[in-house]
Amino acid sequence: MSVFGKEFGKTSDGRTVNLYRITNENGAYVEVLDYGCILHAICVPNKDGALTDVCLGYDTVAEYEANDGYLGAFVGRHANRIGEGKFTLNGVNYSLAVNNGPNHLHGGLKGFDRVVWGTCVASDRLIFSHTSPDGDEGYPGNLMMTVSYSFDDTNTLTLSYDAVCDQDTVVNFTNHCYFNLNGQGTGTVTDHLLQVNADEFTENDENCLPTGKILSVEGTPFDFRKAKPIGRDIHADDVNLKNGSGYDHNFILSGEGLRDVAVLTSEKTGIVMTTRTTQPGVQVYTANFLTDRRGKNDTHYGIRDGICLETQHYPDAVHHPHFPTVVLKPGEEYHQETQYVFTLK
Ligand code: BGC
Repeated sequence: MSVFGKEFGKTSDGRTVNLYRITNENGAYVEVLDYGCILHAICVPNKDGALTDVCLGYDTVAEYEANDGYLGAFVGRHANRIGEGKFTLNGVNYSLAVNNGPNHLHGGLKGFDRVVWGTCVASDRLIFSHTSPDGDEGYPGNLMMTVSYSFDDTNTLTLSYDAVCDQDTVVNFTNHCYFNLNGQGTGTVTDHLLQVNADEFTENDENCLPTGKILSVEGTPFDFRKAKPIGRDIHADDVNLKNGSGYDHNFILSGEGLRDVAVLTSEKTGIVMTTRTTQPGVQVYTANFLTDRRGKNDTHYGIRDGICLETQHYPDAVHHPHFPTVVLKPGEEYHQETQYVFTLK
């Protein structure tokens, strides 16, 4: 694994943004920005032996700053939604930035996707670090974090998240990469085969906020236990699909520890991506709200042109005591890992 860094551009307030390319011995590579720890490119071998970039992104910092959608970004302090941006911890009420209708989404108005992170290049990984101050977007306590990326010779991209705090707080990190295994900018992913090891998912209301109910996937369009094309049931007459305008749901993953949780396959390029994670859930999001925009290398992106497999704790867990806790306490060490493993069919 070798790492090469260069300037990518500047933020609107003059901060330098660097791009790091991590190349493995096969010549496959991943590009990452220190702005938002963004996964900017993932170039892996296709069935013809050439490289395909399977990750959506933009050519400039200005586009990453101006556009919504969190392309490729590391997301926190709390991924997905917190109802009305309010929660109570140890009897104290906290009010967070509200940025998605009445709710808090993906860390607020200035989440970790908007931060220029400190960088350290180690021999086997790229390590980003940042301290989120007490009160950041309304969250309690200072939070010290590292996010590391490595890409090994088996074409395994490993994302590793660590954090400690000095006061009880809530933490739920994810990565918001939009994958298109046919190649970024080639249209929709509805022909991809998806398999997810989940017997259940969390029901959403019309604002994509969990109701607290846990539903079985059996007999529903949410049954991905056997691989099926993403587009097969996406227009089914189903209230949950309507509420998400497609798939935008937290699937409850079987098993524990670092394990295989999902497999995404492109018949066109032969690229197979196996997702592995230590996290209890994955938000399967079929880019239902990805409005038309310019993508990398003068491509065009729109609705369903990528799929996010956002490994995470369940959304809005602060309001549902039966969901796994997202509370982090001083003295505890938060650690989560996710791997995207690229192979060929
Ligand atoms: C959410 C979507 C949201 C998207 C982009 C996903 O994680 O679940 O509802 O539109 O992120 O912000």
